[in-house]
Parts: sequence; C-alpha cells; structure tokens
Amino acid sequence: VIDIRKLYAQGDVFTYDPGFTSTAACESTITFIDGDKGELLHRGYPIEQLAEKSHFLEVCYLLLYGELPTAAQMDDFEMRVTRHTMVHEQMHNFFRGFRRDAHPMATMVGVVGAMSAFYHDSTDIADPWQREVAAIRMIAKLPTIAAMAYKYSIGQPFVYPRNDLDYASNFLRMCFAVPAEEYEVDPILSRAMDRIMMLHADHEQNASTSTVRLAGSSGANPFACIAAGIACLWGPAHGGANQACLEMLREIGTVDRIPEFIARAKDKDDPFRLMGFGHRVYKNFDPRAKVMKQSADEVLGLMGIEDNPTLQVAKELERIALEDDYFISKKLYPNVDFYSGIILDAMGFPTSMFTPIFALSRTVGWISQWKEMISDPAQKIGRPRQLYIGETRRDYTEVEER
Ligand code: ACO
Repeated sequence: VIDIRKLYAQGDVFTYDPGFTSTAACESTITFIDGDKGELLHRGYPIEQLAEKSHFLEVCYLLLYGELPTAAQMDDFEMRVTRHTMVHEQMHNFFRGFRRDAHPMATMVGVVGAMSAFYHDSTDIADPWQREVAAIRMIAKLPTIAAMAYKYSIGQPFVYPRNDLDYASNFLRMCFAVPAEEYEVDPILSRAMDRIMMLHADHEQNASTSTVRLAGSSGANPFACIAAGIACLWGPAHGGANQACLEMLREIGTVDRIPEFIARAKDKDDPFRLMGFGHRVYKNFDPRAKVMKQSADEVLGLMGIEDNPTLQVAKELERIALEDDYFISKKLYPNVDFYSGIILDAMGFPTSMFTPIFALSRTVGWISQWKEMISDPAQKIGRPRQLYIGETRRDYTEVEER
C-alpha cells in the first residue's frame, strides 16, 4: 500500500484510476472483504455466522457502534428504533405529489432527500446528539417510506407501522396488509426478509457508499447524503441488478434457452451481460450469494413452490456458467443479486420493489460509513482529479468566422 498523499505534496506523483480499481479513499473499521477468498466480515464477524445466528437490528447495532450489543443494549436500541418508525404526517401529502406510476426508487430518492426538510432538527452534523437522532430516524423510517412508495404505486392506503412487531415483520405488514382485513405475518417470510436485510446491510466502499461519503465530505446533512446513495444504488450495475436479474431469468424462461443467453453474454458485440454475475472485488463466490441461494431453497421449499421455474433456470444458469471457460477465466461468479429477486418474488413483491428493499437494508451501512467519515480527522472534502485530454489553450473566434 502506497500512501500517495506525501508523494503528491512533493509534486512527484499523479495517479489515474478511473473506477477506483486500486485506490483507497478512506480507512475503515467497519467491513472487510477478501475478494479472492470470497470472505465478508462485519467488524470481524463472518457474514455466514451473522446470517445464521443474528438478526437485522443486531447487525445494525454492530455496524453502527462496533460491537455486538448486550441484551440491555439491544433492548434500548430496538426501543429507540421503534419509537421513530412513523413518518411526519405532512409526508403523506408529499407522497401524493408523485405520479402513481413512478418507480418506487424515484419516489424514495425524492422523499428521503426531503427528510432534511421534515426533520431539520437533526441536520446539524457538528452536534453528536443530532447525528445520532438522524441515524436512528433513517434506520427506523426507511422501511416505512419504502412501504409507502409501494402502497402508493398500487393505489392502496398507507399502512402505519406497528411497533410490537420486529423490524422485518413490520415492513412486510406495511407492504401487504390491507385496512379492515386481518393480516398475520408469516414467520418464514419474516425470517427470510430479515436475512435479506442482513445480507445487504453493508459492503464497504461500493459505488453508493462512496457516493454517500463523497456527498458527506462537503458537510452535507445525512438525509441529503443517503438520498444521494439511493440515487446511485438504482443503477443496474449496482443495486438495480436484482430487478434486472429477475427480469432476465424470466426472459430466459426455460432451461433450454440458457445457452442462447450465455452466448450473448460472451459476445463482445452484444451489450448484454448476465445480471447477478460478476463483482469488482469478489473474484470467487460472493459469500452472500451462497447464503441467498440456500435461503431461496428453504423459503420456496417451505412455501411448497420448490419447483418454481425461475429458481430452476437460475440454478441451471449458474451451473452452466461456472463450467464455462469465459466465466472461469474472467472469475465471474453469482453475486448477492442473483438469488435475492427469486425470494422477493415468491414473497409477492413486484420487481420494482427489489431495489427499494436493497436501499432500506443498506441504509445502516451508509450511515455507519458516514458517521465514521465525519469523525475521521484525516478526512478532507472528496475531490477527485482528472486527466485533461481536451483542447489546449486557443483564442475565441467571432461567430461569423466559425
Ligand atoms: N456478464 C458477462 N460478462 C461480464 C459480466 C457479466 N455479468 N461482468 C463482467 N463481464 C466481463 C466484462 O465484459 C469484461 O470483459 P473484458 O475483460 O473482455 O472486457 C470483464 O468481465 C470485466 O468486467 P468489468 O465490467 O471491467 O468489471 P467491473 O469490475 O468494472 O464490473 C460489475 C463489475 C459491474 C458488477 C459487472 O460484473 C457487471 O456488470 N455485472 C452485472 C451487473 C450486476 O450483477 N451488478 C451487481 C453487482 S453486486 C452489487 O452491486 C450489489
């Protein structure tokens, strides 16, 4: 590792690294990835152990504060989060300004950005108490906002949060309950939702997290920074891949059509890529994809739909790709988005809700990284340089001479 800053200050070095493939922009103690081994640790704990033994709010605590909570700390944290799950009543009117057919991610970018208008008493980043309240507010309210975006898009009334339910069950209820009708959250679906949330909670300096840090480096308030992260996440090369992946699996439709799509993915003249495959850092299995695959099997099995055709296509596609020289040589393995959409689809979510669910799950990671950044004395405003390749200096020509 070379610390370029000193060399740069002496005028000795200038690096060009589009896509930041080999440039660290910060030090961090939150998440560690070993891309060659396919290892992911949060504060040192392997994701597989957390997915099996922990639950989403405990992982939130771990990411935010650095240690697993004691029982008393967990109770207190849960109480603080559940106290903030409702959104300002005025926000209902704000939602109603959007077209009903808007993508829920479009609505979320707007609504989360507007949180600094509704909660301006927690936007002073110099005040540790306000920073803490903003963090809790976002973790608590993002499921409510995502569920509202969904309900609004299907023309149903908003469902208020119920704080006697756990985080995942409350979210499912806000999405699927209908007023005046009984709604019991299925514990299998609740556990699966909680696991999806855990698997998406943080992933070090990916594009959206780097966006949050860059926005925050100017001193912007945390709500504005998280809205910037949501906007970045939406792209199909990042969080939007879960929607794109399920749409691709449906388009493939049957296992006999897989070779056609594999051939397209290998064809350099065809922009098509296998969605849910490949990763900048993992050059081995994404450990989250392994847990997600197991979860898909469990959930669909328990729901009695293990013969789901999309799951069959996904498994066969994975098998064929992993034996194909193109994918082997480029070290392309399934990533977290490959199986998540199949579970969300089985739960009854439309594809347009897949990325909002990713966003609400990643919010804790974004906030933890933002908090770490603003308390790091070495952090300066992010200001990438460029390699200018345009015209050299030239004189202005009058319009009649052009
Ligand atoms: N299908 C086919 N070929 C691929 C794929 C793919 N999914 N991914 C990468 N490749 C090929 C590229 O064409 C390139 O080939 P080349 O060397 O012949 O030019 C090579 O593998 C390297 O690809 P890059 O795009 O340079 O790799 P990068 O690290 O920049 O991109 C990314 C990583 C964006 C994830 C890419 O693999 C991709 O587009 N995957 C599909 C989208 C996806 O699943 N995104 C989710 C990522 S995980 C997340 O954000 C939660």
